[in-house]
Amino acid sequence: MKKNLALGIDIGGSGVKGAIVDVKKGDFLGERIRIPTPSPHTPKNMLEAIEKIVKSFNWTGPIGCGFPGVIRAQIIETAANVGGKNFVGINLAEEIGKMCGCETWVLNDADAAGIAEMRYGVGKGNRGVVMVFTIGTGIGSAMFSDGVLVPNMELGHLKMRDKSLGKNIDAEKICSDAIRKSRDLNWKQWANRFNKYLRYVHSLCWPNLIVIGGGAAAKSDKFLKYLDVDCDIAIAKLQNRAGIIGAAAEAIRAKFELAHRPFTIM
Ligand code: BGC
Repeated sequence: MKKNLALGIDIGGSGVKGAIVDVKKGDFLGERIRIPTPSPHTPKNMLEAIEKIVKSFNWTGPIGCGFPGVIRAQIIETAANVGGKNFVGINLAEEIGKMCGCETWVLNDADAAGIAEMRYGVGKGNRGVVMVFTIGTGIGSAMFSDGVLVPNMELGHLKMRDKSLGKNIDAEKICSDAIRKSRDLNWKQWANRFNKYLRYVHSLCWPNLIVIGGGAAAKSDKFLKYLDVDCDIAIAKLQNRAGIIGAAAEAIRAKFELAHRPFTIM
C-alpha cells in the first residue's frame, strides 16, 4: 500500500461520496463514487453505504471520513443534518474500522474541506485568519489562524432573524443551498441572505480571507457579484472535491504523523 494514498469519504445530506486520494498531489487518483444518502438516516444504513464505497474500490488502506457534525476524540457529538440523535455518542471511526478492517479517522466535513483548501487550494500559504464555508444541505464552517485549525466551529448554527417567521433561527435554515432550492429563491435573493450572514460572521471573527466551497461553489458566477464583505473572498479551488481530499489527507496525518508525535501543549 502506497504511503501517500487514502480513501476519502464525505458524508452529506444528499450523497455519500468517496474517492482514492493521492495526498501528495492533493487530488483524486481516479473516479469518484456517489451513493444517495440512505434513508432513513440510521448508523446501520450509513455504514452499509460506506461499505459499498470501500468494497467498490477493493480498499484496504487508511480511510478518512468527513461527517456533518461535531467530532471530538472521534466521537460524534451532533448530527444536525443526518440522523440527529441516532448518531450521537457513536465512535464512527471504530465502527468503520470494525466493518472493513481499515484504519479510519473521522472529522467534521467542513473541517476536512477547509484543510484541503489550506493545503492544496486557495488558502495555501495564507497565515492570516481564513474562514472556509461549505454551502450545501447545511452551512459548514472551518477557521484557521496561521494555518492551524480550530475544529468544530459550527457557525451554520449562528442564530439569525427570519422575518417571515418573526423569530431567530439557525443561519443554515435561512441561507444554505438546500433552502435556496426549497424556497425557490433566485440567486440575488439567496446572495442577499448569505451576504448578511457573512457580514455577521465577519463582525465576530474578522477573517482576512473567506473561502466559499461546497456544492454552491460551482455556481459562483451567479452570486459572487452580490457579495460585499470587508475582506477578501475566494471560491474554493477544489470545489466539492475538498471534503474528500481533506478527509483523506487527515487520515494519513493521523496514521503516520500524529501517532508518532508525543503530546505537547506547543
Ligand atoms: C453541521 C455541521 C456541518 C454542516 C455542513 C451542519 O448542519 O452541524 O457540522 O459541517 O452542516 O455539512
